[in-house]
Amino acid sequence: MNTIIALHTGTGNSLYLAKRIPDAEIHFIDEFLSGSYSLPEDTERLGIIFPVYCWGLPSPVREFITKVLGNRDNSSLGYVFGLATCGAFPLYTLNDLSSSLSDVGIALSYGNAFRFPDGYLPLQKKAVGKEMTERMAREAEPRIIEAIEDITEERIRLPRRGPGWRLVRKLSMASMKPGKNNDLSVSSGCTGCGTCASICPTGNITMENGRPVSGDSCISCFACYHRCPENAIEYRKAVGQYRGLVETKELKRR
Ligand SMILES: Cc1cc2nc3c(=O)[nH]c(=O)nc-3n(C[C@H](O)[C@H](O)[C@H](O)COP(=O)(O)O)c2cc1C
Ligand code: SF4
Ligand code: SF4
Repeated sequence: MNTIIALHTGTGNSLYLAKRIPDAEIHFIDEFLSGSYSLPEDTERLGIIFPVYCWGLPSPVREFITKVLGNRDNSSLGYVFGLATCGAFPLYTLNDLSSSLSDVGIALSYGNAFRFPDGYLPLQKKAVGKEMTERMAREAEPRIIEAIEDITEERIRLPRRGPGWRLVRKLSMASMKPGKNNDLSVSSGCTGCGTCASICPTGNITMENGRPVSGDSCISCFACYHRCPENAIEYRKAVGQYRGLVETKELKRR
């Protein structure tokens, strides 16, 4: 049976995971939000795949749940799964997902999370290199294979709530609001290729007179920094780029 996947990704880890789901049709969450793609009325299997942001859902995933799922008849949905990628651990992210879905009348059937190389620069000075990337991908593999089997067999796996989860959810929502990112800048090495504008998941970058210009809807995913072919985007004292597990062209949205 066909599965529709609603995907949010910055640096591509979540796309790498989404590509592993058999018989799946993958759509970026921005396609749903812009109206360029609509979930077919008879969809039975829906997967939501995304990175953990501050132990909660990235804002585009929240928007997808409230604005897209919250405004349609979801009675055809029989199996809804959520897979999160993270740099360390998800804490209550899957509870956040389950609760947000429940608010629009959808029951989460299965949730799981996987550790991947992390491109979140505020917590590191040097980007994760090729060797570490390959090692972490190898280490993630057994759990990914297990999860694919779970999802294929439509097994149930629900996140367990721990103490203080509502507070964590509130803090995550407050700290992950889109905004201006004054710490990202473009150096003279920029060739005006437009890659950063085409992969930004929120459309925060526009090209003006051959130069990228940043707006006020940055979610600090760092895709632009890591995927600039000239390494021309600077962030504080960060060095190197996390080149990830998928090709840059696969991250292009526009
Ligand atoms: C804004 C932001 C916040 C993050 N917060 C967390 C976190 O709270 N816990 C964690 O384990 N990883 C965190 N990470 C790491 C990402 O979840 C991880 O790198 C993920 O695999 C990125 O997925 P993507 O490549 O699909 O964008 C964060 C990353 C970003 C960009
Ligand atoms: S991806 Fe890099 S080189 Fe291309 S427009 Fe953006 S900053 Fe310039
Ligand atoms: S501008 Fe912000 S949201 Fe867009 S790719 Fe860069 S870090 Fe991500």
